[in-house]
Amino acid sequence: MEKVTIALPKGRLFDETIDLFIKAGILEKKIESKSRKLIIENDDFRFLLVRAKDVPTYVEYGAADIGVAGDDVLLESEADVYKPVDLGLGYCNIVVAGLEKDKEKYFSNPTSLKISTKYPKITKAFFSEKGIKTQIIELYGSIELAPLVGLSEFIVDIVETGTTLRENGLVVIDSIRPSTAKLITNRVSFKINDKVFDIIEKLEKYLEQ
Ligand code: PRP
Repeated sequence: MEKVTIALPKGRLFDETIDLFIKAGILEKKIESKSRKLIIENDDFRFLLVRAKDVPTYVEYGAADIGVAGDDVLLESEADVYKPVDLGLGYCNIVVAGLEKDKEKYFSNPTSLKISTKYPKITKAFFSEKGIKTQIIELYGSIELAPLVGLSEFIVDIVETGTTLRENGLVVIDSIRPSTAKLITNRVSFKINDKVFDIIEKLEKYLEQ
């Protein structure tokens, strides 16, 4: 029988998803992701270890039946996927942050702001709603560096524990929205693959408790 292919982001969300799958009775035992292998298989599943941002792409094109991705990733992605379950994992907040001294400028009704971020769509949508024009500087990581070296006064990024902001002397200035991980499925797999349906059902049942 064909295995269900599941695209998971490398890192913390991988382990949290595996734990949830065990609790929901989908998996029997832990899958380790310590090696550099990008495909890990057992009798029933094939796990693909991908960059968080790439999960929707693998699922949209059917290279994976199922994936796990945060709202932060899904709001930036244009991939056409089905999002049946909020897994409640990977909780974080999408915020505007900067140096304490620049807070006043942010709240002084500016007409435009320069923002560094890896979330250009979320940023544009949030500020256009407020009638503020944005000059977006798109970065791929270490976003917190931008206000420290004058690349931009403000950043839009996710905050999980707050450690990165704190250690770099930055503060949260405004909240955009919370983000949790969603189970996403390929639209065809969802319709025709009973095993995919079974996974969704087990997760929903477990999360209902
Ligand atoms: C993310 C995010 C923040 C950090 C927040 O970065 O962009 O930098 O985590 O977490 P914290 O509030 O718990 O400190 P990530 O670790 O993905 O690395 P990156 O800078 O390469 O994007």
